[in-house]
Amino acid sequence: MTAESTVLGRDGWTPDGKSDPLMTRRGGLIGAPLSRLDGALKVTGTAPFAAEIPLDGMVYASLLYSTVARGRVRLDTSEAERASGVVLVMTHRNAPRLNPPPGFLTAEKAMSGDGLEVMAGDQVRWNGQPVALVLAETQEQADHARSLIRAAYETEPAVTGFAEAKARGTEVGAFAGEPLSLAAGDAEAALEGAAHKVDAVYTTPRHNHNAIEPHAATLAWDGDELFVHDTTQGVRHEAWTLAEIFGIPEDQVHVSSPYLGGGFGGKGVWQHQILAAAAARLAGRPVRVALSREGVYRLVGGRAATEQRLAIGAGADGRFEAIVHTGTVAKGRHSVLPEPFVMGTMGMYSSGSLKLEVRSANLDALSNTFMRAPGAAVGTFALESAVDELACQMGIDPIELRLRNEPETDPVTRKPFSSRNLVAAYRTGAERFGWSERDATPGTRRDGEWRTGLGTAATSFDYVRMPGGAARITITRDGRARIDIAAHEMGMGTATAQTQVAAERLGLPADKVTFAYGDSSQPGLVMAGGSQQTASIGAAVIAAHRELAGELLKLAGEDSPLAGLTPDEVGTADGGLAAIEDPDRRESYEALLDGAGRDEISAEGVAPPPTESGEWSMHSYGALFCEVGVSEVTGETRVRRFLGSFDCGRILNAKTAASQFRGGIIMGLGLALMEETLFDERTGRIVNPSLSEYHVPVHADVPPIDILWTDIPDPHAPMGARGVGEIGITGVGAAIANAIYNATGKRVRDLPIT
Ligand code: MOS
Repeated sequence: MTAESTVLGRDGWTPDGKSDPLMTRRGGLIGAPLSRLDGALKVTGTAPFAAEIPLDGMVYASLLYSTVARGRVRLDTSEAERASGVVLVMTHRNAPRLNPPPGFLTAEKAMSGDGLEVMAGDQVRWNGQPVALVLAETQEQADHARSLIRAAYETEPAVTGFAEAKARGTEVGAFAGEPLSLAAGDAEAALEGAAHKVDAVYTTPRHNHNAIEPHAATLAWDGDELFVHDTTQGVRHEAWTLAEIFGIPEDQVHVSSPYLGGGFGGKGVWQHQILAAAAARLAGRPVRVALSREGVYRLVGGRAATEQRLAIGAGADGRFEAIVHTGTVAKGRHSVLPEPFVMGTMGMYSSGSLKLEVRSANLDALSNTFMRAPGAAVGTFALESAVDELACQMGIDPIELRLRNEPETDPVTRKPFSSRNLVAAYRTGAERFGWSERDATPGTRRDGEWRTGLGTAATSFDYVRMPGGAARITITRDGRARIDIAAHEMGMGTATAQTQVAAERLGLPADKVTFAYGDSSQPGLVMAGGSQQTASIGAAVIAAHRELAGELLKLAGEDSPLAGLTPDEVGTADGGLAAIEDPDRRESYEALLDGAGRDEISAEGVAPPPTESGEWSMHSYGALFCEVGVSEVTGETRVRRFLGSFDCGRILNAKTAASQFRGGIIMGLGLALMEETLFDERTGRIVNPSLSEYHVPVHADVPPIDILWTDIPDPHAPMGARGVGEIGITGVGAAIANAIYNATGKRVRDLPIT
């Protein structure tokens, strides 16, 4: 092997423009379709999930949920207390006084809380709020005893209807501290005067989280220290949050979450972990709380319902003169997340004027929360349906209309794009899909009882990197490396992709590298959310690698070929370090450790602050295509084939990334055609809290899905990679609705399209 081809410059990526040498490296492990390293553990059932960890002396929790939306509860627990196996019945009468869970983003480490005190009094604030918890020796005993609790309610007037909540007044929503209201020019006047326009209202329903693994935690106190086995998207965030609630130092809470059966924004801190920890303390026993599917609907928030106005005004040449995207979301009164449906509209098209606003109407309902592609998943349904409608009205191909409105710089912030290749994604996608076969006249193609049609939509999702990333790299004398970082593997392939990137960076084979994650004792404040975990880990590992090179050079003795070199002068060679200018000057990790008489060496690095997204407009992009058939007999829509062509920077693992895109698209099929939380507006009760009545796509609903990507590295993202976790679901609702229009001539503006 020639030295030139193996020395990898070590001084990598910084937010102000130094690129990561791995960004453009071809061959090797980057991008390789490595199979999931945890795959065998999972399919053989040997990966332990949070509800499977056994603890000595453990008891089981069962929760009783309120059946009214607002009022006061009176509880008779005497029979439950006498039931066999019961260890504790906890209600507001005996629950410990706790601090309220900090609201999301009210502090750096605050996750998914709504500030509501937990079991602090007899007040009920939503239909489904836990009002009692039973601990018993078995789950069956706990569930039976819970059924013996008698609850009576003194109800108070509650706002549970969207129309009533709107009538009582709405407010401008805020997301991450920024108000969701923005105007450039006079969009209403420009719309009024435009030669061509569309202007319509779109509605999307509530959605609930349905990860295959329902929420569960197994936890125990040891004195004033709390040990939690959980299924969470933020181990460090959770440790801090629980510490705040129980008033103990953060380092006395230990959260471990190595395996998650899915997490889409809903795997955070909710009342069940807090109540279980409180009960464990009262009972002096370890506790397992495993929510039933219904339990997840009662106390874990989902996506809020939206009503959106989307208007576009265009000149005779098709150029947009106005985009208006405004509307209201039905928010839980205490939730800090007004579903930010304008997010996918902000950077998308060039327009003479813009008006964007999200208002929230407050309901006495469970706090809604993040769900895959918050805002953009439902906002792009309105935007991309409207673009299609305008194109059809003007007799312009919908792709051509989008190309005419492709912006040079970010239309809202005026920042340059870090890397935007949506046009390329569109061209390759259209070619592969066979878009030219589309008949622009709706309702003309048939296949027996089916009317068939083609649809397309464009989409984008913001690049983010949250502050706080840090990682530790340890190299041992046997030539193995271990990365430690408090990150998460929710099933998306993070651990596998990061193993291969780290191995390439260190010049080691993947089987000599361990990516260790999922424990709050590890370095880094890394949330698996916002499609930002990959960038967050990447920046942290690059920083740790810089430190490691410095530490390794300190070990190099006088006689080492590396003697006298500075960290900036060395790169990674096969299994060690080498001088960039003179690759023959090299030494292996083993030799460096041997020479210094050391068994191992460790270095920790802190990711630089995420200034890249302040300087550049950074988004992942996608161009989506689908073919549907709509039955003339039943009205049912079947998606016949789907293609997603993505521009997300460098792809780190072709297999796991394709799976993320495909999974997002499948979730989008559900958003378009099936998913709907049925919320009884009279009572505030969710009436379909089960997968038999809340429909998600099953295998028979999923057509062949073709995935393409540009693989053009983003020079401003660590490893050149932007997020792939949430872009897949965005735009899918519109692509399907547009295909249905092409098949039938009907515009459907209300999801799900049944
Ligand atoms: Mo996601 S909604 O950022 O887990």
